[in-house]
Amino acid sequence: MPSVIFVLSNGQRHLVNEAVGRTVMDAALDQGIPGIRAQCGGGCTCCTCHCYVEGGWQGQFPTPIDDEQALLEYAWQPRAESRLACQLKLTAAHEGLVIEVPEKQA
Ligand code: FES
Repeated sequence: MPSVIFVLSNGQRHLVNEAVGRTVMDAALDQGIPGIRAQCGGGCTCCTCHCYVEGGWQGQFPTPIDDEQALLEYAWQPRAESRLACQLKLTAAHEGLVIEVPEKQA
């Protein structure tokens, strides 16, 4: 069960344990992490689960599918590290994953 560290825009850090096969979005919603709204429930249609995958963790996930890439253009302050949390499925290799939560969603 990997541990995910969510870093809020105010610097607060929240450690969340989530089961393998669940997503970063699931981890955020299960623990009420502020700033991840996920209005479409993981359908890759809303862009309100935007997050930044920090450090070297970007390469630990498959590259974004076309729909995710297109939605990220509407994200609030997108960066190279931007991803949609609903598209980030956790594996055992993600122990210690660091996810930065944007100050706000688009
Ligand atoms: S929850 Fe809507 S795009 Fe991720």
